[in-house]
Amino acid sequence: MNPVRGNVTVIDHPLIQHKLTIMRNKETSIAGFRRLLREIAHLMCYEVTRDLELEMIPIETPMAQMDSPTIKGKKLVFASILRAGNGLLDGMLDLVPAARVAHIGLYRDHETLQPVEYYFKAPSNLEDRLIIVVDPMLATANSATAAIEKLKERGANNIRFLCLLAAPEGVQRFTEAHPDVPIFTASIDEKLNEKGYIIPGLGDAGDRMYGTK
Ligand code: PRP
Ligand code: URA
Repeated sequence: MNPVRGNVTVIDHPLIQHKLTIMRNKETSIAGFRRLLREIAHLMCYEVTRDLELEMIPIETPMAQMDSPTIKGKKLVFASILRAGNGLLDGMLDLVPAARVAHIGLYRDHETLQPVEYYFKAPSNLEDRLIIVVDPMLATANSATAAIEKLKERGANNIRFLCLLAAPEGVQRFTEAHPDVPIFTASIDEKLNEKGYIIPGLGDAGDRMYGTK
């Protein structure tokens, strides 16, 4: 059973924790970091979609007719907060290839820690779809809360947030801003440092994924 604290579910699986340890290690290569993030996304996607509703549809196997389960309702939307969100997005799409995708371009101003928006493209009909917002890092939560505000302005009313690491400060801020949005994470780390980085964390996720600095 995954521990749930308030609206936060910590997805506590040995494979996730093992892979996360390798990702945290500063010696891990860019290729390794990217591959592990995609693999963890598979495992987390499994949990974050666990309660999706099913409906029965009639099909014909080569042997017989049957009613078989399929996911009910409108197609899911995965909303990736660029850039690092794309690492989780790729793994999510491996498992749910028909999902629609929103891209939300935000970067943190290093001085103010406020998000600066540079891109937004989402499916037009967000209402009544499950939207899973993905970003590996929830630090101050400024980026995630801004992204979710944008989605809500466009009609989104059923949102979940999936990250790899969260800081307690970010969880609190996020929950105050969006109490209706459950958070799924692999770990709640110790704290933020004075520059808004998660401690112990894994450093800058985007830089580690793409080899920038
Ligand atoms: C990182 C991360 C989040 C944000 C988290 O992105 O991927 O989007 O910081 O920090 P916050 O909770 O304090 O807002 P960054 O701004 O470094 O952009 P990048 O993904 O393009 O590297
Ligand atoms: N963004 C990151 O990529 N890492 C942090 O520790 C905080 C914000």
